[in-house]
Amino acid sequence: MNTRTDRVVIVGAGLAGVGVARGLRQSGHTGPITLLGDEAHPPYDRPPLSKQYLLDGDEAALRLSPEPLPDVALLTGCAVTSVDVAGRTVRRQDGSVLDWDRLVFATGTRPRQLETLAASHRVTPLRTLDDARRIRQHLRPGARLLVIGGGPIGLELAATAQQLGTHATVVEAAERLMGRSAPALIAKHLLRHHRAQGVNVHLGRSVVSVDDGGLVTLDDGHTEHADLVVVGIGVVANDTLAIAAGIATEDGILVDGHGRTNAPGVYAAGDVTRHRHPLSGRIERIETWANAQGQAAAVAAAMVDPDGAPPYGDTPWYWSDQGSLRLQCAGLVQGDTQALRGDPDSGSFVLLQWQADRLCGVAAVNAVRDFNPLRRLIAVGCTLTPEQLTAPGVNLKQIAQSTHPA
Ligand code: FAD
Ligand code: APR
Repeated sequence: MNTRTDRVVIVGAGLAGVGVARGLRQSGHTGPITLLGDEAHPPYDRPPLSKQYLLDGDEAALRLSPEPLPDVALLTGCAVTSVDVAGRTVRRQDGSVLDWDRLVFATGTRPRQLETLAASHRVTPLRTLDDARRIRQHLRPGARLLVIGGGPIGLELAATAQQLGTHATVVEAAERLMGRSAPALIAKHLLRHHRAQGVNVHLGRSVVSVDDGGLVTLDDGHTEHADLVVVGIGVVANDTLAIAAGIATEDGILVDGHGRTNAPGVYAAGDVTRHRHPLSGRIERIETWANAQGQAAAVAAAMVDPDGAPPYGDTPWYWSDQGSLRLQCAGLVQGDTQALRGDPDSGSFVLLQWQADRLCGVAAVNAVRDFNPLRRLIAVGCTLTPEQLTAPGVNLKQIAQSTHPA
């Protein structure tokens, strides 16, 4: 096998798939690259689907790769239905078979469904451009949207709906918002923010039925009318192809720092992977845009130069725009010590967290300038104290520039 000239097939044409294809070319791979995506659209970016796209409907702005990918055969509307690891082939929906020397899974995730509601014509997930097109048609002044799930998807969508004059309700099963991805103090702040914008938030509740007329019934008997119900209750990995091919998975394809699976010549990148979290040390699935982009670049570099490329170990981070509020989180959701920089009542502040005297997590609310230096300080293992990082007038940018890995 020649790692610069062999035939690479990438399954999944989202951010990670496109990133691997581009990264291979940038790293000097000259062999044939085929990128197979099951969606009909050219590769597009998902974050705007719950935010800007709903406001402006600008589909051209979503394009992930406005310029054609250099010398990459991109096949859209082309689902891969099986993978043969021993024979080194993939089979496509139309029955055709494609040979590869190395294969990359970049199949992403799909929304969890609520089986009891899945058949209703009033209920939809939000993952694809087609989903967002449908939702957008319903976001009219005076219309009513009900979102199930108070995670980033539900809250971003509710905030955007309110901006468009659509009345939004969020039904969250837990007693707090954003349980998976933000600290409790931030969740409380988000709750106040959304209620102040007029979003009707039910905590500790679930939806038991949605009838054809749009009458939604909660588990406490409360009823509400909704023109559309969007389910945003988390995602599961698209790893069934990999499972059927005998590749090791665990709600996600298990990979090492070079994106290698347990099958020789088979890699994976993006939302579909499960790998070692650089801070917790646990094997986790990291469902963020930054992870899909960074891991894809690292995997491509390692595919071309297996001995020279560094393993992927970026500090995980994400942003979530919820109306006028920009949340940016990096590192761990929970530490053993917390401190605030700025005042939550001012609307702009940062929650910092330490684990065993080391900065391990940052959640910034409308504090964009503080976020990047703090993210870097997490990455270098900063041991400055809460007082040192939260004192008024402290120049975080300067500290981050002068702090080097421990
Ligand atoms: P995906 O984007 O899921 O792409 C995988 C592609 O593979 C899909 O097109 C899928 O259809 C295709 N595929 C699957 N199986 C097959 C098959 N058998 N054959 C061919 N193709 C196949 N992250 C943030 O950090 N910040 C945000 O603000 C943010 N907002 C978001 C808003 C929305 C509405 C959504 C849905 C996600 C958001 N994310 C955000 C998450 C971010 O978009 C994902 O982490 C990122 O898209 C992951 O990229 P990926 O390429 O790994 O997977
Ligand atoms: N009823 C109501 N709420 C529920 C239910 C239910 N039956 N089941 C789960 N929930 C709640 C969870 O408690 C959680 O607060 O739904 C929320 C889901 O949050 P996430 O798991 O963060 O998922 P979601 O908001 O759908 O985001 C999915 O999109 O933005 C990306 O990166 C993000 O990968 C993530 C994906």
